Amino acid sequence: MFKFEAVQYQYPNQSTTFKFDFTLTNTGITAILGANGAGKSTLIRLMAGLTSPAKGSIYFQQQLINARELPCDFYQNIGIVLQNPETMLFNSTVFDELAYGPSQNFPATKVQSMVQKTAQTFALEPLLNLSPTQLSGGQKKLVSIACILINQPQLLILDEPFGGLSLENSNLILKVLQEYKQTHKIIIAHHDFQSIINLIDEVLIVENGQNNVPIKDITDIIQLANTY
Ligand SMILES: Nc1ncnc2c1ncn2[C@@H]1O[C@H](COP(=O)(O)OP(=O)(O)OP(=O)(O)O)[C@@H](O)[C@H]1O
Ligand SMILES: [Mg+2]
Repeated sequence: MFKFEAVQYQYPNQSTTFKFDFTLTNTGITAILGANGAGKSTLIRLMAGLTSPAKGSIYFQQQLINARELPCDFYQNIGIVLQNPETMLFNSTVFDELAYGPSQNFPATKVQSMVQKTAQTFALEPLLNLSPTQLSGGQKKLVSIACILINQPQLLILDEPFGGLSLENSNLILKVLQEYKQTHKIIIAHHDFQSIINLIDEVLIVENGQNNVPIKDITDIIQLANTY
């Protein structure tokens, strides 16, 4: 799926050098775990082709990824939900937000039924006619996840998908992801290991901008529970 080979990245005028070197499995859910400021979102921006490494190589399905020249079908395969939902919502209603992706590929009647189904899954029906600017933080988060999932990307990347969500809505997302992972690859950046322990299959730990600890598989995950 993703392979990072001796990747290095630095923000302009910042001293920290981010260093990543790993290969992710093709199936199930990979959790990117680490403290605030560890570098999880930076890693996700590199995966998503939003920034380029200064050194090293990033491969997605054996294809070299370069943010300045991405393969033309790159975003047909990958759906990304960024940490801050404000950056993801730009349509005038929640309905249009959900319809945006499907309307690129399907006729209006099909789009209508896809939006209704997704709105039902995420309990968004009462919000469909509202402007995203009228939503609460948690509601924006739900809409930002729903408007990516509606496109059924082969790989779903979520940066802090539970941020600002109530317990009820966190459980809703957990249930949706549990089902989605049966047929799709998912990568989640998250800081609270315990709350997703039953969902994940592989763990990538980021500390001080680096993945020093090898990827853990499911047999090691229980042991990690005591340290994170
Ligand atoms: N645009 C930027 N310019 C300069 N430094 C940045 C920028 N974005 C992030 N950083 C720095 O890089 C480090 C890692 O940030 P990053 O957002 O990747 O962390 P994170 O693990 O996602 O944290 P959180 O759990 O709070 O979301 C932090 O020290 C942060 O201050
Ligand atoms: Mg982050």
